[in-house]
Amino acid sequence: MLLGSLPEIRRDPLAFLSRVTAKYGDIAHFKLGPFHVFLLNHPDDIEHVLVTHHQRFIKGRSLSGARRLFGNGLLTSDGALHARQRRLVQPAFHRTRLDEYAGVMTTLAAEQRDTWREGDTIDIAGEMSRLTLRITGRILFGADGDAVAAKIRGALETATSLLEVAVLPFAALTDRLPLPHVRRFRAARATLDRVVQDVVERRRRDRHGGGDVVSLLLAAQDETDGERMSDGQLRDELITLLLASHETTANALAWTWFLLARHADAAASLHAEIDTVLATGRVPGVGDVADLSFTRMVLAESMRLYPPAWLVARVAVEDHEARGYIVPKGSFVVLSPWAVHRNATYFPEPERFEPDRWRTERRNGHPRFSYFPFGGGSRGCMGEAFAWMEGVLLLATIAQRWRFRLLDESSHPEMQPGLTLMPKSGIRVRVGQRS
Ligand code: HEM
Repeated sequence: MLLGSLPEIRRDPLAFLSRVTAKYGDIAHFKLGPFHVFLLNHPDDIEHVLVTHHQRFIKGRSLSGARRLFGNGLLTSDGALHARQRRLVQPAFHRTRLDEYAGVMTTLAAEQRDTWREGDTIDIAGEMSRLTLRITGRILFGADGDAVAAKIRGALETATSLLEVAVLPFAALTDRLPLPHVRRFRAARATLDRVVQDVVERRRRDRHGGGDVVSLLLAAQDETDGERMSDGQLRDELITLLLASHETTANALAWTWFLLARHADAAASLHAEIDTVLATGRVPGVGDVADLSFTRMVLAESMRLYPPAWLVARVAVEDHEARGYIVPKGSFVVLSPWAVHRNATYFPEPERFEPDRWRTERRNGHPRFSYFPFGGGSRGCMGEAFAWMEGVLLLATIAQRWRFRLLDESSHPEMQPGLTLMPKSGIRVRVGQRS
């Protein structure tokens, strides 16, 4: 058991996870204030928590910080409410709808890529965030999407930056204090609420949303009792979807561009694939995703090294056994893609960026939960297929025209493990024409 870890965890949670994993291996137990926490690093134990014995675990207090922002949306709710909401929301992201969303993704990516000029210096992390927010805005709010994205951008940034380590229990403890950052958080959250609420009210009145997600959710009825969701619930789901879909993908892409800028060989293979698949220089479409297999491997390898969801947390509602130890009811259980993805048992030379490790023949035989950037089981990412498609299409659309050079080749961008794993001060690159 480790003690006195709280200051270290708050200062540098990733270093803490790496250190504890290196020292204790598959299971570690420590205290965070009054809370008992178990870090489970063995893929079998991760599978037990997420899949086999998922009913022994809830999100509960482990997400009390995030709940301040998401309310009781899909990511943070539990039990019957969660099951019902998942039934209502999931159809909006069904595979059959993805074709339509692919068009939004590539149109906006091509638009943004065409605003850059050879030799420009840009923050590629900021650019990816702007792009994925616009895409999410359009998909969720249709014609209102651009206006919504513009209005909430600042508030989203403020709210997420103030969430700190949102997946741990103490984040909500200061909530009632009249501190400046609590006030700023509340103001940002009020802006988000107001903007989203306005669209919902307008849609209720005019019902002209076409196929956007707000309209689908307004119309969604539970098959068991015919009920629709309340405005409050709808707001929570929309804010959850906004953040769950835009910040994660933006950060996955930001780190991918960073890695490609550092690895000329991988960048060359990526460009070769894109040029072959999109031979005439056309913008990619959903039909190309399956052929862009190296592009997908690059993204997979990037999310191995920089998993946007770097920590997954639960509370045990029953005693559970892991590696011969009892995890008592009431304990927190944390699973860390960050720690497991860098384990040399599953990924030889784990620090090395090597997209080829994702070739099917090399992955065969690896335990399922040695790689889990999207979690798994009944609480697994609802947008996984959407995210892979968006990642591949955006990489291909942008890399078709540009390559990026890091302004600072020598140092690693500082990482900020907040709600997602982001580069703290962005990633500055110089835009260069391909060939
Ligand atoms: C690279 C992009 C993404 C990553 C790495 C990611 C990761 C994750 C992870 C790890 C979870 C599970 C959290 C847990 O078990 O506690 C999750 C849940 C979720 N994600 Fe994603 N996600 C991504 C993109 C998206 C997108 C594009 C959407 C929406 C279209 C989305 C919607 C959701 C929702 C609604 C949940 C909650 C599911 C539930 O509990 O029923 N995510 N995501």
